[in-house]
Amino acid sequence: MEKVDNQGPQKQAERMRRLTETAKDTTMGKVLRQFWHPIALSKSVAPGTAKRVRLLSEDLTLYRGESGTVHLVGARCAHRGTLLHTGWIEGDQVRCMYHGWKYDGNGQCTERPAERAGTEGHVRIPAYPVREYCGVIFTYMGEGAAPDFDLPRRMFCEQEGVFLLQRKEIWPCNWLQVAENSLDAVHVSFAHQMGKVGAFGQAIPAEVPEVSYEETSAGICQTAVRKLGDKNQVRVSDWTFPYGNTVIIPNVNPNDPWMEVTNWMVPIDDEHTIRISLRAVPSTSQEADDALKRYFDECDDYNSTDYHDELFAGHYPDDPLVRLTSAQDYVALIGQGTIADRASECLGASDRGISMFRKILWREMEAVETGKPPKQWKRLEKPPQFMDYTKKTA
Ligand code: FES
Ligand SMILES: [Fe+2]
Repeated sequence: MEKVDNQGPQKQAERMRRLTETAKDTTMGKVLRQFWHPIALSKSVAPGTAKRVRLLSEDLTLYRGESGTVHLVGARCAHRGTLLHTGWIEGDQVRCMYHGWKYDGNGQCTERPAERAGTEGHVRIPAYPVREYCGVIFTYMGEGAAPDFDLPRRMFCEQEGVFLLQRKEIWPCNWLQVAENSLDAVHVSFAHQMGKVGAFGQAIPAEVPEVSYEETSAGICQTAVRKLGDKNQVRVSDWTFPYGNTVIIPNVNPNDPWMEVTNWMVPIDDEHTIRISLRAVPSTSQEADDALKRYFDECDDYNSTDYHDELFAGHYPDDPLVRLTSAQDYVALIGQGTIADRASECLGASDRGISMFRKILWREMEAVETGKPPKQWKRLEKPPQFMDYTKKTA
């Protein structure tokens, strides 16, 4: 009888699965730990408060001391393991609510009220450096000293005359399919025409684009060209390894300037992703700025996950931009499953951004496994010039 050789598909499934892993003891988890990661919005942690967060499959306590400085330490108290965010903040330290052990921002225990004073020196919990940038809190969870805070910087956000808007959503799927979606310019012509057509779907029409991809010092430059009559609409993404996508998108009001948006698809663990968005909007008039801020305030609590059943029944939010665009991506990506089955896909030429991304990930994983130096990623000195899309075509 002929033997069925299913080693091939199994190996392929295993190879794909390894790309999605986020824990510290996995190769991909080690690749991811070489970078700064956004973990929360600054506005979500008031001085003197703590919250529980999870990043790269690790539970953590994020707190802001009374001085205003943010700290990130392990989730649990070293004594008997209760969750530290349920305690309280004293100065720049966090005190456990169970028996009062206290920790500083370096994870050092500084007080054990029911033990002999001065014996707490050997007690530590994990702690990671944090950095606040443009209203977003970042951390570095790798070995050794943190790299320069370079890749996450967005020069447009640092300019005078722009104001910044931040939001987040948490989705029940692996980070990689959310990241791959940002290297898939074709989906814009379909997914964002689905359900309802908002400002994004109107501005980026249904014409299928010609796509091209090039590896850069920062990540991947993605170009999508759509023919609109005798003109071309050229969309360029300044995509930053391992998952940051910077593009420009239309404003809520079609007459207002387009805004630069960076989406980071951050792995909470293998089955959850926090999508953090930083938008930089050229300030026009006080009235227009206020209207946009009001609109974003209204969108703040929207998380597509909370509307899962109605979205999958085809009921999309009645919204011109942010909620609708997120909901459309949500349906496409959650529809792939919690962890997309990449061994059964059928990639075409238009998916070459995704193929390039995976090749880079395998290359970087191999570097980790063989002890070779990883690529030294650097922010582009000259990022692509985004065209003036208020004119829509060029
Ligand atoms: S568990 Fe935290 S002080 Fe006992
Ligand atoms: Fe999308």
